[in-house]
Amino acid sequence: MKINLIDKKVEADLEIVLTNNIKDLEEKEILEQLGFEAKDETSVFLPESKKIFVGYEDEDYESLAIAITQAVKKIKSTKFTTANLELDCECSSKLKAIVEGIYLSSYEFNTYKSKKEAKKKQTINIIVKKVTKKLEDVLSESKTVTKAVNKVRDMVNTPPADFYPKTMADVAKEIAKDVNIKATVHGEKYLLKNKMNSMYSVGKASTNESKLIHLSYTPKNAKKKVVLVGKGLTYDSGGLSLKPADFMVTMKLDKSGGCAVLGTIWAAAKLGLDVEIHAVVGAVENMVAGNAYKPDDVLTAKNGKTIEVRNTDAEGRLVLADCLCYAQDEIKDIDYIFDYATLTGACVVGVGQYTTGVMGNCEELKKTAVKRSHEAGEYATALDFNRFLRKAIKSQIADVCNIANTRYGGAITAGLFLDNFVYEENKNKWLHFDIAGPAFVESEWGYNPHGGTGAAVRMNINLLKNLTK
Ligand code: BES
Ligand code: ZN
Ligand code: ZN
Repeated sequence: MKINLIDKKVEADLEIVLTNNIKDLEEKEILEQLGFEAKDETSVFLPESKKIFVGYEDEDYESLAIAITQAVKKIKSTKFTTANLELDCECSSKLKAIVEGIYLSSYEFNTYKSKKEAKKKQTINIIVKKVTKKLEDVLSESKTVTKAVNKVRDMVNTPPADFYPKTMADVAKEIAKDVNIKATVHGEKYLLKNKMNSMYSVGKASTNESKLIHLSYTPKNAKKKVVLVGKGLTYDSGGLSLKPADFMVTMKLDKSGGCAVLGTIWAAAKLGLDVEIHAVVGAVENMVAGNAYKPDDVLTAKNGKTIEVRNTDAEGRLVLADCLCYAQDEIKDIDYIFDYATLTGACVVGVGQYTTGVMGNCEELKKTAVKRSHEAGEYATALDFNRFLRKAIKSQIADVCNIANTRYGGAITAGLFLDNFVYEENKNKWLHFDIAGPAFVESEWGYNPHGGTGAAVRMNINLLKNLTK
C-alpha cells in the first residue's frame, strides 16, 4: 500500500471514514440499519457511495492503527486502486498511528506460495489541512520504522532450511551495507579461541556453523553508547531435551530477538539517531546429533562462570550468556546494554502472548522501557527479580544451573540466569526483554498477520530516540 500525504482532495475510487460516532453522518440511517456502531474493530463498506466506514473508540495509537487496519483489509479485498482519507486535525501523533497501521497491516509474506497473486498497486491519500515539514517527517520516520519491522517479519517468517546462522550473518552484512555501517562475523573457531564454550556447545550438533554477528553504527557526536544483544536461534528443536512435536512447530521464531536487533540498528542508522549502537547476535541452531551437548554437561562461559546443563532446551540463555560477555569485553564504556530473546514459554503463560516481559536490576530503567514501549504501540510489563528466585538456579556442582528447581516464575529465573553474565559495573545499565509472546502470532491480531510481528523494533527506536533526554 502506498501513502500520499496531500492537502487537496483528489479524485479517488474510495473514501475511508474513520468515525467514533455515527450521529452526525449523512449515512446514519443505513449504518444503523446495518448494525454499525462505530466501535473498535468494526467496519462497513457501502458500495453505492464507495465509502468504507471504520469505527474507533479512542484517539490513541492503538485504536487508530487497528481502525485503519480494517480499511486496509477492505481495500485489499477489492480491485479499487485509490482511497481518500481526510484527517480533520494536523495532529502528528494521529498521522503516525495511521501511517504505521497502514504499512504494518498491508504486509504479506508470499515467498513460499507457488501461485503468486499479482501485487496490487493501491494508494491511500491522506488529506490534511496543510502538509507541514513536521507531518512529512512523521510520515518518513514511520515509513522507515515500519519498513524495519517488515524486514524483521520477513526474516522470522523464512523457514529454517533457508535461514540458518550463515544466512543470518549474510543478511546482517547486507543490512550493514545498506546503511553504511560496520559488520563483523565470527565463526566457531573464534568462539572456541575466545572461550565462548556456552554458545559454542548449543550449536555443536548442527551441521550449520554458529555465527557471532556484530554490527556497529558509530555516528559522530553520539550522545550515548548502547549495545543490543539478540538471541538468534534460527531453529530450536530443544536438542537432546527434545521438544514434543506440537511445541517444535513455529520454532523458526526463535531468532526473533536477533532479527529485532538487526532491524533496529538498520532503522536507527537510516534515521541518523545520535546514539552509538552495537548489535550483537548469537546465531545458532539447536539440534540433535551424536556430538550434541547433553543434560549433565558443565559449560564454561566467556567470563569463566561454570554452568550445569540440566535441560538442553534452555539454550537461549546459554547463547546470550556468552554474547553478553562478548559485548562487555569488546565494547568499552557502555551506557546501556539491552538483550532481546524469545526466551521462555513461561513468559507467555505469565503475561499473555501480546506482551513483552521487561527485567533488570534498575527500577527506573525498567519503567522507562515499559513507557517507551507503550508509546510506540507495543505492550510490555516489568517482571521483578527477587532473592528467593535467584536461589532457584543454584547448582550443586557448578556456579549456576541453566534451569530452575521450580517451574514457577520461569521467565524471571531465566532473567536471573542472564544477570550472572552482566558485569558488576553494568548491573544497572542492563535490561532483558523476553519477547516469546509477541514475536510471533499464529492467528492474526490487530495489524499483525500470521507469523513474525517484528516485536521490539518500534519500542527500541522510541527508547533509543529518547535516551538522551
Ligand atoms: N525458545 C524457547 C522459548 C519459547 C517457547 C519461545 C514458546 C516462544 C514460544 C526456549 O528456548 C525454551 O525452550 N525454553 C524452555 C525453558 C525451560 C526448559 C526451562 C521453556 O520455556 O519451556
Ligand atoms: Zn529451547
Ligand atoms: Zn529457544
